Amino acid sequence: MGSKYLLTAQELASISGANLSKIKNYFGFENQKNPKLSSAQVHEFMKKSGFKYTCRSLAFINLKGGVGKTTAAITLASRAVQFGFKTCILDLDAQGSATLALDYTLEEDDQIFHNIWQTPKEINNALIEMEENFFLLPSDLENSLLDVSLNNPASQKKAVKGIINELKNLKFDLILIDCPPSLGAAVISSICAVDEIIIPVANDAFSFKGIELTIEEVGEIRSTFGLSRSKTKILSNMVDKRLNLAKEYEQKLKKKFGKYLMPCCIRTSSDFSKALEKRETVFANNRKSNGKMDYDLVARTIFGLGKK
Ligand SMILES: Nc1ncnc2c1ncn2[C@@H]1O[C@H](COP(=O)(O)OP(=O)(O)O)[C@@H](O)[C@H]1O
Ligand SMILES: [Mg+2]
Repeated sequence: MGSKYLLTAQELASISGANLSKIKNYFGFENQKNPKLSSAQVHEFMKKSGFKYTCRSLAFINLKGGVGKTTAAITLASRAVQFGFKTCILDLDAQGSATLALDYTLEEDDQIFHNIWQTPKEINNALIEMEENFFLLPSDLENSLLDVSLNNPASQKKAVKGIINELKNLKFDLILIDCPPSLGAAVISSICAVDEIIIPVANDAFSFKGIELTIEEVGEIRSTFGLSRSKTKILSNMVDKRLNLAKEYEQKLKKKFGKYLMPCCIRTSSDFSKALEKRETVFANNRKSNGKMDYDLVARTIFGLGKK
């Protein structure tokens, strides 16, 4: 199993605050200029430096499609793996975009969320190990039956929660849920279960309605189920800084949803479609790119790592 998502010693220096020679020394890589480290090596070093990997669950939700939910989920997941997190993506979208984007093709006896939500212990067998510390619960069209099988509020409250609890037992550090663009059972169940919700938004005139609706629904669902308010963040995506309109939207976003808005954004970039073409994320290659730079900052912001 070759690893695509390794971290360079230099990057580890930047997130840990330790100096490069100390890191090379620690791993016995004194002779290499900028060695690459596995997720487990990064995990070990970060822990030694005092970083705490406490399990977090995040869902990417927007009732609108095409805003970058899947891209955000897989790109952040791959960065988290590089940062040493034992990471799992739950693909709950019947379209299976995250599964496809990570180059996984389902086999006959693979399990998806629809088959296991009633027996969460099965998640252990259902997970596909993409590489060290990088796991996927794949999805296919059968997940669209969820709206029929997971149709009562009590089960909706428990379904995703049950899986997350099991993943905590399995010592995962990060659980990311890629949701479909609807308000079906999978989304309601995710809203009930996760610590944090990230709403990616495209930087255009049609986005505001989507944000408003999503925030409203999240609030209503959490209160209907008697849950405390979740942490909700808006991630501004597809920002084209050359356009005056982009500045206008950014201002509007700040004014209307300022308290939710993340302090960093993702620029429009062809890096994402190029990565998708290769069924990998922007972090699989060594080149510098805007897509990488932006998601690196988003990841550092979310995980509270290294100042930029
Ligand atoms: N910042 C970006 N710049 C350019 N294209 C992007 C960006 N973010 C996402 N995309 C592209 O937009 C399309 C829709 O993104 P996707 O993540 O599938 O959205 P969703 O999951 O919300 O439907 C994909 O082709 C993706 O590669
Ligand atoms: Mg998607």
